Parts: sequence; C-alpha cells; structure tokens
Amino acid sequence: MRNNAIVLFVVSSVSYPKYRFKLNSYSTQFPVFEEYPELAYLDNAATTQRPKAVIDAINKFYISENANIHRGIYDLSNQATTKYEAARQAVADFIGASSASNIGFTKGTTESVNVVAQSFLSKRLNQGDNIVVSILEHHANFIPWQMLAKEKGAELRVIPIDEHGDLNMPAYKELVDQNTKMVAVNHISNTLGTINDIAEIIAVAHTKDAPVMIDAAQSVSMYPLDAQYLKYDFLAFSGHKMYGPFGIGVLYVADQHLSEIGPYNYGGGMIKEVTIEETTFVKFPKNLEAGTSNVAGVIGLHAAVEYINQLDRAQIQSELSELSQYTEELLQSIPGVKVVRLPKHHSGIFSIEVEDIHPHDVASFLNKDGIAVRAGMHCTQPLLTDIGVPATVRISLAHYNDKSQIDRLKASLIELIDFWS
Ligand code: ALA
Repeated sequence: MRNNAIVLFVVSSVSYPKYRFKLNSYSTQFPVFEEYPELAYLDNAATTQRPKAVIDAINKFYISENANIHRGIYDLSNQATTKYEAARQAVADFIGASSASNIGFTKGTTESVNVVAQSFLSKRLNQGDNIVVSILEHHANFIPWQMLAKEKGAELRVIPIDEHGDLNMPAYKELVDQNTKMVAVNHISNTLGTINDIAEIIAVAHTKDAPVMIDAAQSVSMYPLDAQYLKYDFLAFSGHKMYGPFGIGVLYVADQHLSEIGPYNYGGGMIKEVTIEETTFVKFPKNLEAGTSNVAGVIGLHAAVEYINQLDRAQIQSELSELSQYTEELLQSIPGVKVVRLPKHHSGIFSIEVEDIHPHDVASFLNKDGIAVRAGMHCTQPLLTDIGVPATVRISLAHYNDKSQIDRLKASLIELIDFWS
C-alpha cells in the first residue's frame, strides 16, 4: 500500500445525489436521514446520529428551560437543577448503579479515564507496581495509563490478542499479579469490534484486589452493563456514541472508591470552604464538576438514555448481529478486500484493507457514493503497529443501518477496484 493517499474526490459541501436508501423503522426517528436519505452512515463508532427526541430535548432546554444550576434561588434555575440531577439518576438506573452519587459527568470517555488516572491511581501507584491494559485500547484508555506509569516508575503491561483479534485471556491471567494497581480495558474495540469478556477480566483482576476500569464507549448503547452484576470499579462512556450530545460523558465510580476520586479541575461549585490559606472540597461527584456544567449536554444525555430504554435492546442486538454477519460475508466475497482481523466475538465493526489502495482514497471514493466510513488509525496506533497494518478503512454499524446500504458498499468497493486496476 502507498504511504500517501491520492485524494480522489474533494467535496466542498454535503451532497449525496446518487442513491436513495429506503429508511428503516429506526432511521425514521433520526432527522439526518430525512435530510439525506441517500446517506449510508457507516461511521457509528466515531459518533452515532441523534434521534429527534434528543435534539428536541436540547432545543427545549435552550428555548424554555435555560438557567444555570446549583446557583439560583429562582424557579428557572431550580427547575434546571432538578432536571440535571434527574439525569444523573437516570444514568445511574441505566447502568444499575446503586445511587446517583456514583455518577459523575465529564466531557467524555477520555476525560473520565484521565480523572481516574490522575485523581485516583496517581495516589496509589508506586515504583514496582504495574497497570494492565490491552493492545486493543483506544489512545484514550492507553496514554493516560502510559504517562502515569512513566511518571511513577511503574510498568505498563499490555494484554496481547490472538490471530483472530480476540484478547489472549491466558496471557492476561499471567499479567495480573499482586502489584497490579489497575486493569483498564475496553468492552468493545473501536477498531476491530472485538467484544471482550469483561466479566471474566473483572473477576480475575479482583482475585488480586486490582480495580478495573471499563471503557464502554462502543458498547453502552447496546449492552446492559449492570454495575451490581459486573462489579467493575470504574466505567466510562460518552454521550455522542449513544445517540446523545457531544461534549458530555459519564464516569461511574463504585462505592468503595468514592472518597478517593477527585478533585480533578479546580474552580467554582466543588468547594466546602475557601480561605486565603486553603480550600476544602465536597465529595464525588460534585468535586468532579468544577465550573459551569454542560447542562444542555446532560439534558440531552438523559433523552438519549430514555431513547435507548424504549428500544428492545435484545431485538436490536439480534438484528445487528444478522446485519453484521451479512456485512462480513459481503466483504469477504470481494476480491482485493481483506478484513484485517475477524474476532470470534465481535460486534458490527470491521476494519478492512483494499489491495494497493490507500484507506483515505477508499473512503473518499465511497463518499462520492454517499457512504460514510472512517479511514486511518482510529486512535489505536499500538494495535495497528502490532498487527502490521498502517491504516484501515473502518465500517461500523448501528441499528438504523440496513442491508441495502451494505449492498451499496459492496457495489462501490467493486467499482473502485475496477477503476483502480
Ligand atoms: N473514538 C472514535 C472512533 O473510534 C472517535 O472513531
């Protein structure tokens, strides 16, 4: 593969003139597909689209409910505060947390991981300790641990994958020991779509008293990640990958760690008392939410949780699994297309290479046919280095995708390969 892309088509404004896809019953709830019925949006691992209910909730907040929270004595502010805290309770219920006080709002998964690294683990980690991550991690769940390990003279241990792209669990069991101070893994890989056995990962870590942080960015929209059942110590996810707004995320902290979290940023809204000499702070989650919060983001996140709650997630998992199987078969039937790894346990995320064609050229060719995919390293450079692939084209599915869009993907890839040869 060439190192540089030849940019095949430069598009200056959004226009998808060629094909019209029939909207499925889920996609009719997403205004973007009314706007662009021609769009095959296959970049859901980067961000999902938003249903009308989420957009309406945010609009309503700004039109008729807007005020700052935890500050006002007047009705509008009290109402905004009530709604903000109701969202915290809804998120707690969504993941089966025992209380809303286990839920902190952040900017997203990245910030949630950084909070745990900087405000929890940095106090516990010493020279000779280790942190266990996997080679599948997004940079957001890799670099914060790598930097902390370097700073403290600790070791970063990396769980390898097997030839399919599944985590090597026997190797994992060897890596965790009495000096492991954190195990941090994703539930679903954003690049290969591997579904990790987090129940087993958590159980193993806990035999050594190591806390576990789960990056659920790619999975929380689809899988019920019950805190009481799975017993993870920390869980992170982002609103924008679960049909909610950008710029809002969640950090769940288990009861036994609540007193050890934060502060992370300093500022208003998180103090008990400030004197010229010193400051004392309130406890998590308020100590995490310094400054004016992303109130509209939290309201939108609540609407996203309600949107997911009214879906039949078991039904959606089964439909997506069928669509995923269909996608896998179509991709494998195209000469010149290679799925770089096909984990035994995988969700609807595929990383492919197209023989001799740079991933950016593939993505730009697909774009002219109204097909949106991501090309590049997907913020997982250690993984791509490990599997010896410089970049991939990634196809990531959601429940509003359907087979006709995958058929178009196949036709477009075949057209590209013909055009190139
Ligand atoms: N983390 C997002 C992705 O995988 C942005 O594309």
